[in-house]
Amino acid sequence: MSDVSLEVVANPARACAERLAAQARAGGAIVLTGGSTSRGAYEIAADLEPDWSRVDVWWGDERCVPPDDERSNFGMAKAALLDRLAAAPRSVNRMESVEQYAAELEGVGTFDLVLLGLGPDGHVASLFPDFPTLDVTDRDVVGTPAGLRPFVDRITLTLPRLRDTRELLFLVTGADKADAVGRAFAGEPSRDTPGSLVRAAYGPTRAILDSASSAKAVSATGTSSR
Ligand code: 6PG
Repeated sequence: MSDVSLEVVANPARACAERLAAQARAGGAIVLTGGSTSRGAYEIAADLEPDWSRVDVWWGDERCVPPDDERSNFGMAKAALLDRLAAAPRSVNRMESVEQYAAELEGVGTFDLVLLGLGPDGHVASLFPDFPTLDVTDRDVVGTPAGLRPFVDRITLTLPRLRDTRELLFLVTGADKADAVGRAFAGEPSRDTPGSLVRAAYGPTRAILDSASSAKAVSATGTSSR
């Protein structure tokens, strides 16, 4: 039985957006992900709840590019979510450098919701398979070269900091992710698949999937769908 609750849905972006909007209403600290899958969820979340004034927004990882570069995770979330809100978040904590982000995180407690994507190689945030960054336990933030496209240097939260949350939510779609989904959510924890190493320390870990990405995980674990 998986320790991740797998939810195979017809509209993953919508399901994820509903969770984001609920957290925006409840307030707290939300960690956003980069990548392309979350963009649709951000757009819908802004429509569902345009008032984010009760939340602090963080990122799990960033590419080392200017904020207006099309590869920037901050830039993507700004266009898809932040710029569409009627009331801005209480704070927006962009990753600019390892030192700056570590300083901003100092004294910040457990996150309320961490959103993560999953790479086809099984990476999460910018923690790539078998990279030494997977062993870092004494810091919240590290720099790393990229293990996958786009090949620009990255900044990422470490495994312990990603786990320090009341809920962890993966959003994964597409047949090219089916192997990684199987390994991350229905296999043994392994450095080959960083997604198998991240679970919420203080609450549920959930994965919102489409049927294509779930093909190698659901038969092994069972699932709920809506
Ligand atoms: C990044 C990420 C990364 C992403 C996955 C999934 O900066 O690249 O935060 O971990 O979430 O690679 O990305 P896609 O949604 O584009 O497949």
